[in-house]
Amino acid sequence: MKRTKISHLLRTEPRQQTVLVQGWVRTFRNNQFIAINDGSTIHNIQAVVELNSQEENLLKRVTTGACVAVTGELIPSPAKGQAVEIKVKQLEILGDSDAEKFPLQPKRHSLEFLREIAHLRVRTNTISAVMRVRHAMAFAVHQFFNERGFYYVHTPVITGSDAEGAGAMFRVTTLDLNKPARTPEGAIDVKQDFFGRETNLTVSGQLEGETYAMALGEIYTFGPTFRAENSNTARHLAEFWMIEPEMAFYDINDNMQLAQDFLQYLAKYALDHCADDLAFLDKRAAEEEAAKPQDQRSELGLLDRLKFVVENDFQRLSYTEAIDILKNSNPNKKKKFQYLIENWGTDLQSEHERYLVEKHFKKPVILYNYPKEIKAFYMRHNEDGKTVAAMDVLFPGIGEIIGGSQREERYDVLLKRVQDLKLPEKELWWYLDLRKFGSAPHSGFGLGFERLIQFVTGMTNIRDVIPYPRYPGSAEF
Ligand code: 4AD
Ligand code: MG
Repeated sequence: MKRTKISHLLRTEPRQQTVLVQGWVRTFRNNQFIAINDGSTIHNIQAVVELNSQEENLLKRVTTGACVAVTGELIPSPAKGQAVEIKVKQLEILGDSDAEKFPLQPKRHSLEFLREIAHLRVRTNTISAVMRVRHAMAFAVHQFFNERGFYYVHTPVITGSDAEGAGAMFRVTTLDLNKPARTPEGAIDVKQDFFGRETNLTVSGQLEGETYAMALGEIYTFGPTFRAENSNTARHLAEFWMIEPEMAFYDINDNMQLAQDFLQYLAKYALDHCADDLAFLDKRAAEEEAAKPQDQRSELGLLDRLKFVVENDFQRLSYTEAIDILKNSNPNKKKKFQYLIENWGTDLQSEHERYLVEKHFKKPVILYNYPKEIKAFYMRHNEDGKTVAAMDVLFPGIGEIIGGSQREERYDVLLKRVQDLKLPEKELWWYLDLRKFGSAPHSGFGLGFERLIQFVTGMTNIRDVIPYPRYPGSAEF
């Protein structure tokens, strides 16, 4: 007999048809009611065993965590909260579970504990809901760009230069670390390494993405990125996924509009397609909020925040305007900020970003035109000589969710910047080439996929929205 997924059965009209369900036991009550989950939905289906109808030895093996196959009649359920249940005719144990040792009991476990059993944590309601939403968001990313005629480009994971300068990198080598090949001078001889040069894991696909935008027009990348920063925060991973669209003929304003449209599309997609999981996560987030002191609670619940993003324009604000607001803000005057805002030109810390988004505007903010000193070399220089056409999208509870810019398309200006910053001009030859052969105004940005999932699911720690998080000191599983 063919298996039917629980998500389908729960929407099926019960007419005593015989069905087969396969899944994992969540609970087994009174030697009679088995709650089975197969991952197709957050909801379990109840399988009812008629007393004495099954062998006692078989029922003993129905424990939380065991994998079972149940064949029986789909009937209307007398119990509250479920339309149908299964009257069991045949029960088979596909995989026993050692009830004494199975670490997931039918109760709430802390997220910290669940990280230690990352191979099993997806069997909880919370993590499975997050992972289904994660899937839906990945799908929606491709759908959004496909609908708009963007091409999906696979940029390399192993790269030969640190052109981006986005952060410390992970070295890739096949040299014997105990006795690496050395030059006559005693230095490590990278010419004898696998690629004949120093290589690292990529921190961003942007520079290669730009080369493709200069032929295909509008492209995007969606792949893993690696940063060896020693940041142990709830918003940083050493391995994360980034979506990087790059568009010929877009200026900074077109770029900001696309970023807003993109985020609104994704939030709406989640509301439209992940209702069950979001309802669960909304309730979960509300319980978490209720446990916080009154003044630290956020005003909107998870679903309200998603709707708010879909329905409201993001606030666009230049860096210079932001500095004025921050300088005159209460926390600055009362010296409540850890980093006080005194001069134009200082980099903004997350406390400042959060003040703007959560206290001052109470909506997502797009900050643009930053001082050139605090931004990457490839951003387009503005006429004022001081700022570049950078843009960061700031979200409540998350901070920076998107970073991007209009790119410097003028060869002379870009070359001078590369030289002023003493960047490896030789390694950047191909990137500079773009500006010699049919250069075009163009723009792009990067969305941190896990930060998006944090926003959509309301999970406060980024380590809980990726299956196997990588961070300093942790690469088990
Ligand atoms: O601001 P970032 O460093 O920008 C770039 O890498 C550009 N090349 C993007 C572009 O213009 N094509 O990173 C972009 C986004 C951030 O806004 C953040 O959401 C996410 O990537 N991000 C991280 N997410 C998780 N862990 C980390 N360590 C992250 N670093 C950046
Ligand atoms: Mg950034």
